[in-house]
Amino acid sequence: MEIREIRTEDNAAIEVVIRECLIEFGGNREGLAWADPGLSDLYHEYNAREGEQSYANRAYWVVEEAGRILGGCGIAPYAGSNDVCELQKMYVYEEARGTGIAKELLRTALEFAKRHYSRCYLETLSNMHAANRFYRKHGFRELDAPLEGSEHFACDAWYLLDLQDVPVTAARGKKRSWKADKLDSMGSSIFSEAAGWREEAERAGKEIVNLGIGAPDEAPSESIRRKLSDAVMRADAYKYPGTRGTKAFRERCAQWMMHRFGAKLDPATEILPLLGSQDGLAHLAQAVCNPGDLAILPDPGYPIYAGSLAIAGVTPWLLPLREANDFLPDLDSIPAEVWEKAVFILLNFPGNPVAALADYAFFEKLVFLAKKWDVLIVHDLAYSEMGFDGYRPCSVLEVPGAAETAVELHSFSKSFNMAGCRIGFIAGNAEAVSALRELKGHIDFGAFEPIQETAVFALEQAMSAPEGDRGVAPLYEGRRNTFVEALAAEGWSVRSPGATMFVWARLPESLTETKSRWTSKAFSRELMLQEGVGSIPGSAFGAEGEGYVRFSLVREEEALRKAARRIGRFVRSIGG
Ligand SMILES: Cc1ncc(COP(=O)(O)O)c(C=O)c1O
Repeated sequence: MEIREIRTEDNAAIEVVIRECLIEFGGNREGLAWADPGLSDLYHEYNAREGEQSYANRAYWVVEEAGRILGGCGIAPYAGSNDVCELQKMYVYEEARGTGIAKELLRTALEFAKRHYSRCYLETLSNMHAANRFYRKHGFRELDAPLEGSEHFACDAWYLLDLQDVPVTAARGKKRSWKADKLDSMGSSIFSEAAGWREEAERAGKEIVNLGIGAPDEAPSESIRRKLSDAVMRADAYKYPGTRGTKAFRERCAQWMMHRFGAKLDPATEILPLLGSQDGLAHLAQAVCNPGDLAILPDPGYPIYAGSLAIAGVTPWLLPLREANDFLPDLDSIPAEVWEKAVFILLNFPGNPVAALADYAFFEKLVFLAKKWDVLIVHDLAYSEMGFDGYRPCSVLEVPGAAETAVELHSFSKSFNMAGCRIGFIAGNAEAVSALRELKGHIDFGAFEPIQETAVFALEQAMSAPEGDRGVAPLYEGRRNTFVEALAAEGWSVRSPGATMFVWARLPESLTETKSRWTSKAFSRELMLQEGVGSIPGSAFGAEGEGYVRFSLVREEEALRKAARRIGRFVRSIGG
């Protein structure tokens, strides 16, 4: 076995190994994440500008045996620092474990790190339990505790040099953990980290404007609240509701689908209430797939998409959403063997975090392809009522015959500010709806009937609203205008979303192209710590999200103006 620096031609092999490790152990962890930029071009990431001063302090090594790459790791600056670096993308393949090579690899990397930095972090996982399971699996001895003075459970990578490189079998069974490994692959770590930054900023006395989590700040209308209040007073409202949902709920949802989209659905077989659309998104893969199946997901995408696959043991195939194509996926780029193997394709228009707008023609093509390949379309339409500038989002179920191959998820959370009620529904293909109903029948016993009644009332109100009434859309459209204009006045010109409550802002090029190379995570963190403004790093939504941050329009316009001023000050302070 030989350790050597990476070459351009190693890129493909390393990407395969890292992605295999991710599938085995779950993604979304620091240093070994779907979200890591440049995963598919590590040579460029670490060595491309060899000789340039800014690249002298980063390097990547691989372990090779008989032409096969069995492990690797890199050193790169931590958040652009000249003093602190991170040990990155460390992995060791099964065959190489227990041979001493992992330790050798580590020694090579850390000797390099020592020449360039005073500290080196291994900012691996969100807690030590999880970190230890990771080390066990990779053949390292476990750590006793995070190193004192380190942050976010990062441990000092120097410390790893003292660890033994032991066979996995010998390390296993040392200590039982009561946390399932799959939880680590659900991408929650970055959200808990963001919560930690917020606490840190609060402790430092910052006034917070949190544009991180996308939770509506407004209450439902008074009539909706009154309806709920009356319904909960009924003495007979407290029996188990049943998974299928009330007839009135299913009928009204079907009626609304016809009213809003012209889509005809059978309320008996093609509609099912959900405890929020999240319930459907989290459970659908378990209901319609077997472990080892494949599903196509958007990248970037709302985190539960990948999380639900991790729970179900389904492999994701990631379909990039890129700015060059207005964040719409190139359906023709999906290889035939992926269509052949995929059980479903999940899409979300207008989406979170990217408000791409798909039109009827797009859905028509999608339905054609799905039927051709016998693939289920899962369309998340949580933001159906948040279209701006005259645009009203389409339903995939508008396409004639779509219910033969598609289901769609709807939410009352954003459309009616009813997020806390936990109510939504799935509509479409009867077989998939029935499978989800069967699974949920084992998990929950349905949505509280007063909440179903209230949802029925909300739909009735929407259907009887005067022509031109656009529900919640004008509120968010106004906020979008204010925020995007205020950012532009600060010198940061971002894409104005045509729908949803999210601004998907590409970091100024001066930050991503310079030697300091700000990652979206470092940007979000520092923005919170220095200015108290909350955002979510784009990398939380997938590798394609690197280089972007997401701002939610969940505060009133004055607060958004204030946030924009602080963001402008922050960007200027870091050279943007
Ligand atoms: C794209 C998307 N889908 C689904 C959901 C879940 O919504 P619900 O409250 O209906 O569970 C959200 C919530 O933020 C979302 O952004």
